Amino acid sequence: MKQDKTPPTLIMIFGATGDLAKRKLFPSLYQLYLKGNLSDQFAVLGVGRREWSQEQFREHVRSALQNSAHSNDQIELFIEHCVYQSHDVTDSRSYIQLKELANELDENFTLEGNRIFYLAMAPEFFGTITDHLKQDGLTDTNGFCRLVIEKPFGHDLPSAGALNEQIRKSFSEEQIYRIDHYLGKEMVQNIEVIRFANALFEPLWNSRFISNIQITSSETLGVEERGRYYETSGALRDMVQNHMLQMVALLAMEPPINLSTDEIRSEKVRVLRSMRPVEGKEVDDYFVRGQYGPGIVNGKEVKGYREGANVDAASNTETFVAGKVMIDNFRWAGVPFFIRTGKSMAVKSTKIVVQFKDIPMNLYYNKEHSLDPNLLVIHIQPDEGITLHLNAKKTSEGVNTQPVKLSYSASSVDGINTPEAYEKLLFDCIMGDATNFTHWDEVRRSWSFVDKISDHWESTKEESFPNYESGGMGPDKSHKLLADEGFEWWSVGELDK
Ligand code: BG6
Repeated sequence: MKQDKTPPTLIMIFGATGDLAKRKLFPSLYQLYLKGNLSDQFAVLGVGRREWSQEQFREHVRSALQNSAHSNDQIELFIEHCVYQSHDVTDSRSYIQLKELANELDENFTLEGNRIFYLAMAPEFFGTITDHLKQDGLTDTNGFCRLVIEKPFGHDLPSAGALNEQIRKSFSEEQIYRIDHYLGKEMVQNIEVIRFANALFEPLWNSRFISNIQITSSETLGVEERGRYYETSGALRDMVQNHMLQMVALLAMEPPINLSTDEIRSEKVRVLRSMRPVEGKEVDDYFVRGQYGPGIVNGKEVKGYREGANVDAASNTETFVAGKVMIDNFRWAGVPFFIRTGKSMAVKSTKIVVQFKDIPMNLYYNKEHSLDPNLLVIHIQPDEGITLHLNAKKTSEGVNTQPVKLSYSASSVDGINTPEAYEKLLFDCIMGDATNFTHWDEVRRSWSFVDKISDHWESTKEESFPNYESGGMGPDKSHKLLADEGFEWWSVGELDK
């Protein structure tokens, strides 16, 4: 984290009584406060439907902070800056009251009219809230006004476009910060540095030397309490449209001419524009969907997706996606980017494996010892680091080779706790740095890619569902997807060893 201090700011959180605020937003702001990154001139204005008193709200924040495992030392000081207002998102009178309170806080904490509106709530209200914020004068200040929105940003391209149009009536693109929390992860941010700060990789980072790239983000948890949302989303909209394609973009982009927000984003957009669109029956050659049945995860019996709360007993919703993304440009022609993500799987792990092509002639080949390919593994979570897989001479065994690994573990070098994604993203937003937030052009491109796949899936029922056991690594077809190209998934568990 940079050592800078944020400018004075009012952080207005819609959905302040909800889960995201409790688990991520309050603890992240508190952590920034503890580290001295948050200016003393700040206030958190919690907004929610519930009729809570100031004391109830402060107690809620207090317990969120106590549970967040950060030092408790300054909780009471932090809480002095937290205020609550109960609110009806559709009623102008509510916004007028909110404005008065915001103005008061502005004075009391000398906030210089700087405001962040954080919408941590159901997306159906995003447009209504932004309309009111402008109409009722909350954005009418002398300082900066920024809007932070959580996913999902629409359900498909038309709905995302409509939402964007509505929001843009009140906020300009520069004022909108669309969160993709993967962009706040330390090792996702490290992708660009690994690529562009090392003489070693960039010359090899193309179709001449790389045979394929694999991105896996597997989760052990199932859909749990989120059946209602998930039934309308599925893994494709929930994980691929945003997090997975963002990682593809960072891995495949050209070096930007500098590290400015605009340059980085425009290089990412160029990647998203180059993704080969697949539609209709062709989708089956590129993408595989899965749904978990019952099974055993971490030694515990778990139910199948269809047995979950608020889930249709014959649901066609996918909880797993594997896909082959082809980037049809000069650098990547012919190199598959395999992506895979799913719930209720064997391990919780996000990893990128860059597999290099075999060397032209293997001098060390004999029947017992084939050479392993060189791999660059970027460990995103739970462990954070980089491993380079090489071949070296086997100690005292003539010229036989053995695989060796050069490893860098971010957590052991840089201290145990790398900052939470939300901490970094909140800091960036208050500082006015939108680089790690998604621009509308990125959102638009990724929806247009994903929509063609979901159109095909929604029009054809997957008769084999459920087609993978909980605690496994997805359906067999996911392995076939790679086998057809002469590859196989690197086992994420093995790569940790
Ligand atoms: C969210 C999805 O965006 O990302 C969740 O809505 C998913 O379904 C989560 O569990 C995964 O995030 P992480 O940081 O745990 O990999």
